[in-house]
Amino acid sequence: DKLEVLNKRRKGEEYKSESQLWEDEVTARARAAQVQKPAREREEDYEFVFDTTQALKWDTELKSVDPQKQMLQAQLEAAEKRVKSIEEVRKSLPIYQYKEQILAAVAEHQIIIVVANTGSGKTTQLPQYLLEMFDRQAVKNASLSGKMVACTQPRRVAATSVAKRVAEEMGTKLGHKVGYSIRFEDKTSEQTRLKYMTDGMLLRELMGDPSLNSYSSVIIDEAHERSINTDILCAILKDHARANPDFRLIVSSATMNAQAFSKYFDDAPIFNVPGSTFPVHINYTVASEANYLAAAVTTLFQIHLSQPIPGDVLIFLTGEDEIEAAATNVEETIRKLGSRAPELIVCRLYSGLDSALQLKAFEPTPPGARKVILSTNIAETSVTLDGVRWVCDPGYEKQHHFDSRTGMDSLVITPISRASAAQRAGRAGRTAEGTCLRLYTKHAYYSELPESTPPEIQRANLSSVVLQLKSLGINNLIDFDFPDPPSPDVLARALEELYALGALNDGGSLTSIGRKLAEFPLNPLLAKCILEADRLGCVDEVLTIVAMLGESGALFLRPKDKRILADSARSRFSSKEGGDQLSLLNVYNSWAESDYDPMFCKENFLQYRSLVRARDVRDQLVKLCDRVEVAPSSAVSDHVAIRKSLTSGFFANAARLARDGQSYRTIKNSMTVWIHPSSTLNETRPRFVIYGELVLTTKEYMRNVMPIDPLWLNEVAPHFFKEGEIEKLGVGKKMPKGQGKVGVDGR
Ligand code: CDP
Ligand code: MG
Repeated sequence: DKLEVLNKRRKGEEYKSESQLWEDEVTARARAAQVQKPAREREEDYEFVFDTTQALKWDTELKSVDPQKQMLQAQLEAAEKRVKSIEEVRKSLPIYQYKEQILAAVAEHQIIIVVANTGSGKTTQLPQYLLEMFDRQAVKNASLSGKMVACTQPRRVAATSVAKRVAEEMGTKLGHKVGYSIRFEDKTSEQTRLKYMTDGMLLRELMGDPSLNSYSSVIIDEAHERSINTDILCAILKDHARANPDFRLIVSSATMNAQAFSKYFDDAPIFNVPGSTFPVHINYTVASEANYLAAAVTTLFQIHLSQPIPGDVLIFLTGEDEIEAAATNVEETIRKLGSRAPELIVCRLYSGLDSALQLKAFEPTPPGARKVILSTNIAETSVTLDGVRWVCDPGYEKQHHFDSRTGMDSLVITPISRASAAQRAGRAGRTAEGTCLRLYTKHAYYSELPESTPPEIQRANLSSVVLQLKSLGINNLIDFDFPDPPSPDVLARALEELYALGALNDGGSLTSIGRKLAEFPLNPLLAKCILEADRLGCVDEVLTIVAMLGESGALFLRPKDKRILADSARSRFSSKEGGDQLSLLNVYNSWAESDYDPMFCKENFLQYRSLVRARDVRDQLVKLCDRVEVAPSSAVSDHVAIRKSLTSGFFANAARLARDGQSYRTIKNSMTVWIHPSSTLNETRPRFVIYGELVLTTKEYMRNVMPIDPLWLNEVAPHFFKEGEIEKLGVGKKMPKGQGKVGVDGR
């Protein structure tokens, strides 16, 4: 075994594990930017070690603000903070000056738009102002009493962290008067009057109660982000306001181009709240950086070791994998530097992060130390981090890209827009003068970054949204009042997909399956697998697999010095007959047998955090199943039932082995795809498979691959494939050995 691995390594064939997927994405990034980079064959080439003598070259000198002045300023601020009561802090926010004007406008107009810089108090203050106002009115108008104010956020982290802050401001326990509601987590109660929630959760609530009776008003926050759910909420709440004269809507945005919103909301008045910000010096690199992750870490230490404290550093990365990789690297370097460097505190900020760890980013930095916050886009406008004086911006983010022709939906690392770059830079100048270090050249800024990002609704797969709209009774999507309509092709594709899933009938209206699918806050493909599992009696197993498939973080760890051990640990769970999906089931079940032991994860090189999240999601799904009358059932050793259930959702992702015996062709579009090197089936290569998703790196790779019997396709999706299409593939010949066999292998 060991020899085989070593041989493979020499040949450069060793696979990349999930935790190293970001390295693949570096290549994807280069593609997206259309920058020609030398192909890198072996993963060793991507490894970066921080070298204290190495420094990035900037187009202007790294100017630090006069250290003396900076120190004084920080001390002053700290002193001010200490004596300032919460009430005083609230009154010092820019938005406070406009409180009465805003409330007067709200009294007069049903819909208003508030534009103010990040940190002005939009998210924390506006909902409290509205609540006060409605409480005053409720004295005269009893129908208003007890109603809630909702404030929607595109991001979970923003909803939870702000709710906590506002609970403090209002002197109540989180979950009492102030609460939050995000997917799979509800922290509200009977007493809750102010509810922070993701935009997706408010849409779900609308499905249950379209009257929206429990809300006096809604604040659609972060509207400039243009998330799909925010756009849909805009349309639905605009309509709701027409029918309910007492209802109030505030649309809040951090960017100045609110004209389009105003126009959309029938010329709603715009409030521009001027915010005081400090100047930010912008630096670009002299040459472009191939590996931005390494460059970001280098930049961090360049700042940390050469610039006087205080001043925290904020680094924007594209996701959990990148953040964890960078954090590990930074922590290692700190250890190596030992007492030669001042204290550096590493904080992470991304949506799957444990909430206690999230809050660490918001805690004040102790004197003499510096904090580095490794964050996704969350820190761009959604949350306020005081004390950041340095921003490092590699210029990338993860974006959905949907190709309606192939039906391929992928998360691609894409250059950000210049509007985002400006927001990111602004984060350095909240409390004092700051510096933004852009890890790209000035030329790239003008030639590669678009002016602004198109709204998500024009970039993503819409089947979930269409399903939700249908279940809200909105049948005519062509005439739906989208702020920016999606392309008709993408809408048609979504309808087709839902029809193939059995969610819509010939007339385009929701079937009973469709209604059930809509109950699950999941991609309809995954929800369909659960319903089919109910029919085939393997709900327990399929729920586990669905929860594991939904887990976005890395599951299998591969530390540099223990790769062989890690790989052999992984192979103990792998199921050649059941593919990656059944291997995930094996992992979860073994962990469950160990009584969810963290040590079990350590010994088997599994990410404990990812498994815990999968368990939480699974628990929530079990509760939801109860609601749609899906009873628990188990088919411990019946792989066929489990695989059939999964096929009933993912039939559109079926592929067959090509003649070359290496690549695959998708059955529907004959697109060439490959099994991802990290897949259990990388060597077996069964004749017919389905995959969970496609990732585009150096090739179109299928991830989460599972062998199927092609005849199942006709059985589970009779409308999707043309008559005889499956039979023509030469089915009926012998299936690869071992298909459909019972039992858990490899252990
Ligand atoms: O929404 P907007 O960006 O306009 O500002 P906000 O989130 O309401 O934040 C207003 C102020 O509240 C910030 O300047 C922070 O000082 C404070 N805040 C805090 O201390 N802790 C939080 N979790 C959120 C806000
Ligand atoms: Mg905000």
